[in-house]
Amino acid sequence: MTFRIAIVGAGPSGFFLADKLLKQGDVPLTVDLFERLPAPYGLVRYGVAPDHEKIRAVTKAFDRSARQKGFRYWGNVEIGRDILLDELLTHYDQVCFTTGAQTDRRLGIPGEDLLHSYPATEFVAWYNGHPEFREHTFNLDASCVAVIGVGNVAVDVARILCRTPEELARTDIADHALRALTNSKVREVLLLGRRGPTQAAFTTPEVRELGELAGADVRVVEEEVHLDSLSAADLEAEDDAATKRKVEVLQEFAGRPQRDAKRTLTIRFLVSPTEILGDAAGQVRAIRLVKNRLVRSAAGRLSAEPTDEVEEIPVDMVFRSVGYRGVPIVGLPFDDRRGLVPNIQGRVVDSATETTVTGIYVSGWIKRGPSGVIGTNKPDAAETAAVMLEDLSTIPRAGRPRLDVATLTKERGIRAISFADWERIRTVEEEHGHEMHRPRVKFTTVQEMLQTLA
Ligand SMILES: Cc1cc2nc3c(=O)[nH]c(=O)nc-3n(C[C@H](O)[C@H](O)[C@H](O)COP(=O)(O)OP(=O)(O)OC[C@H]3O[C@@H](n4cnc5c(N)ncnc54)[C@H](O)[C@@H]3O)c2cc1C
Ligand SMILES: NC(=O)c1ccc[n+]([C@@H]2O[C@H](COP(=O)([O-])OP(=O)(O)OC[C@H]3O[C@@H](n4cnc5c(N)ncnc54)[C@H](OP(=O)(O)O)[C@@H]3O)[C@@H](O)[C@H]2O)c1
Repeated sequence: MTFRIAIVGAGPSGFFLADKLLKQGDVPLTVDLFERLPAPYGLVRYGVAPDHEKIRAVTKAFDRSARQKGFRYWGNVEIGRDILLDELLTHYDQVCFTTGAQTDRRLGIPGEDLLHSYPATEFVAWYNGHPEFREHTFNLDASCVAVIGVGNVAVDVARILCRTPEELARTDIADHALRALTNSKVREVLLLGRRGPTQAAFTTPEVRELGELAGADVRVVEEEVHLDSLSAADLEAEDDAATKRKVEVLQEFAGRPQRDAKRTLTIRFLVSPTEILGDAAGQVRAIRLVKNRLVRSAAGRLSAEPTDEVEEIPVDMVFRSVGYRGVPIVGLPFDDRRGLVPNIQGRVVDSATETTVTGIYVSGWIKRGPSGVIGTNKPDAAETAAVMLEDLSTIPRAGRPRLDVATLTKERGIRAISFADWERIRTVEEEHGHEMHRPRVKFTTVQEMLQTLA
């Protein structure tokens, strides 16, 4: 008997898991991969920055997984809305959620919801052509922008704001974003880190790239990149070459002559936003920061402690880039504090009984939280695949009624997208791109995508 597995979410985790399950030769199984959007690849399509095209090459490996025997793709089908979890559980031996982290973490400070204060998650989805964010607008008439957080997403946002129209025009950035950013009046971008350079979450190649922008001068405040004694001691003790290089890059920025570029990108450290201030129209006008010092917590971690030194910087727009967050899935337990589905090695755990839920699994960002690069999801998927295969050996081989997804979705008025359909859509995007010397010109509505199949 062949087991039937449903995977929900066609980001890297969904593909890594499908691949792992289909490649093992011991247990006969098939995989149906459901995705709420017509296009697969999750954040590789709708998160990775458009000026980082090389990263998207990983989709070739996902395409190879999709060609394996036993694999089917059901795009444009949302689980929990178009098909319910209970329906999947009736027809599939196991269901694994690889739904990622679909929303943003909040700062919890006054003024967070003023006009022109946005989560970075929305800006990223907008410039990448995510169909649900196409109609969003951002105050690109702003002269000065603050980006809160110093993770790689904050760096992406700052870099995209600083890119020249010519640089952006070579990428697959959504056309609406290309138009808006071409007319952007942004002159100053501030990246705001609450701890020091050693603790910054961004990685060395990403921060080095900020020093190579054609249209922006990068700046730091010299005293903020000079390491305090605790950070210096940690860096020495840990002998962490990557962090050492990162600090060197930042210190080199301090000594750089400015070129009078059109834009300035200033990276600040040891400052926390305490309030976003608005004008009479309820629009962002300034950000209030408190200067921090680093202290060692009981757990040994260096954390930010506010001093009584405050400053107020006039800004016209704020991006809050302090991390993503998973959203609850109807019918599944949810850890609201951590923003993920509680689990042990991928087996979903019922929070009330603290026992594992039969037949339901998680992998990727919804399993461990929104951290790690694309490749981090591969060993994570391998761990979930291992427990799924182990559990299959305990399932009675009676077989379940097969779910006729094609008929069911049709009855429900949904145009499900097969992988072959997706490949046709992608070919049209690439053909448009080829004409314009761009990798692709993305469709940014579901309707446009479906029309190419009509
Ligand atoms: C802005 C940004 C840029 C990044 N850039 C890089 C980079 O340059 N290099 C790098 O290595 N890593 C990068 N990362 C990290 C990388 O993208 C993640 O590690 C990875 O995408 C997480 O994979 P995932 O499959 O768990 O989640 P996701 O990629 O988010 O995939 C989840 C999928 O599930 C689908 N889904 C959600 N709910 C449902 C539902 N109910 N029914 C059906 N489908 C559903 C979603 O539409 C989505 O396609 C970046 C992350 C972000 C946020
Ligand atoms: N090019 C790439 O490879 C790439 C690109 C984008 C994303 N990614 C990956 O995707 C993952 C998610 O990235 P991310 O940038 O969203 O998250 P992240 O790496 O977790 O960074 C979040 C940032 O927000 C800060 N922060 C959190 N709460 C804050 C608060 N209340 N006030 C001020 N600052 C606060 C954090 O500071 P503290 O450290 O002090 O908490 C940190 O600087 C990461 O693993 C990242 O590497 C990779």
